[in-house]
Amino acid sequence: MADNLIVEGNTKEEKYTSLLPQIRSLVEGEKDGIANLGNICSALKYGMGFYWVGFYLVKESELVLGPFQGTIACTRIAFGKGVCGSSWQRKNTIIVDDVDQFPGHIACSSASKSEIVLPVFNAAKEVVAVLDIDDNNYATFDKTDEKYLLEIVAIVEQYI
Ligand code: SME
Repeated sequence: MADNLIVEGNTKEEKYTSLLPQIRSLVEGEKDGIANLGNICSALKYGMGFYWVGFYLVKESELVLGPFQGTIACTRIAFGKGVCGSSWQRKNTIIVDDVDQFPGHIACSSASKSEIVLPVFNAAKEVVAVLDIDDNNYATFDKTDEKYLLEIVAIVEQYI
């Protein structure tokens, strides 16, 4: 396995296209969920240059901070609260251009300006985690991010 990922391209589409097969091979052959989630966070943060990348895991009735890369974060988020809890409740991706405009947004870091959260499902179609990515610029995320991040979530769903 390579020590570092090589991400080529200028557009986010090119960067994701370059990163995805590397993420696939990174987790291939390792069935430990925490190990894989940790490496995926690192690949996304350093490959794409996002401010904060992490997974929150559904434990009992709340989201609990899992593997992440970035500054320290809130450890627990209730169902329906903030962007993460809302994504869990709605069972859908949420893209926020300006976190201050999202009612109930949980500010873990004042540097975070925009955010995308995608739910991760088990075979029974229950949400078992969310992938939360924050950036320190406004309106960083769009449908292109969602498209490629859904592919990463699909990888995670194979072993979580
Ligand atoms: N902003 C999130 C909380 C998690 S931190 O950003 C890492 C939210 O409102 O769900």
